[in-house]
Amino acid sequence: MIRTIGLTGGIGSGKSTVAGLFAEQGAAIIDTDDIAHRLTRPGGIAIPAIRAEFGDRYIAEDGALDRAGMRALVFADAAARHRLERLLHPQILAQTETELAQTGTAPYAILVVPLLPQAPAFRRLVQRVLVVDCDEATQLARIVRRSRLSEAEARAIIASQTPRAERLKLADDIIYNDGDLDALADQVDALHRRYLQNSD
Ligand SMILES: Nc1ncnc2c1ncn2[C@@H]1O[C@H](COP(=O)(O)OP(=O)(O)OP(=O)(O)O)[C@@H](O)[C@H]1O
Ligand SMILES: [Mg+2]
Repeated sequence: MIRTIGLTGGIGSGKSTVAGLFAEQGAAIIDTDDIAHRLTRPGGIAIPAIRAEFGDRYIAEDGALDRAGMRALVFADAAARHRLERLLHPQILAQTETELAQTGTAPYAILVVPLLPQAPAFRRLVQRVLVVDCDEATQLARIVRRSRLSEAEARAIIASQTPRAERLKLADDIIYNDGDLDALADQVDALHRRYLQNSD
């Protein structure tokens, strides 16, 4: 199996931006958020199980998951979140394994897993953990700038995620994303050279 680096970080920390920079270097990118999205779009293979578990009210007119409705439910109800995860995680894992087997000639794979700290099954797929980190003020500012979330909503999401210090404990490598995009690209370049050497 291809050498796989698990990329994680809090909401809006820069995971997708970092993944894009690794892609420019030729790494294979597998993004579990993208996979979850595909599983839950109209006709997605997770839809029948979601309908059976949560009822029609969480399936939109077009047959996709009602994302806003489900987000509100699982944010308010931890048991519902566990039910959704029990249903989705095995399907995301299976699709991840399929994609890892199809990475062609890429020298290594970057597997983007926001939930890596809470998901042992995904940690078993990766040989290293790379955490994208930035201070909370930067994180909040970027989240609010890019989305329609208020600062209070962004804070609530951050508070619901694995605490920063705990996430950093899992890191084999850390990218500090408090600077500009050039500073980010420099860190990605340096890690890319190390990952190519295929050594720890
Ligand atoms: N170094 C940077 N300088 C300026 N803007 C940045 C930088 N890094 C990321 N951003 C911007 O911050 C926002 C969040 O970045 P990004 O989408 O990569 O984070 P993410 O961790 O993938 O977020 P999510 O958790 O929602 O998937 C984006 O609008 C992105 O363009
Ligand atoms: Mg992202």
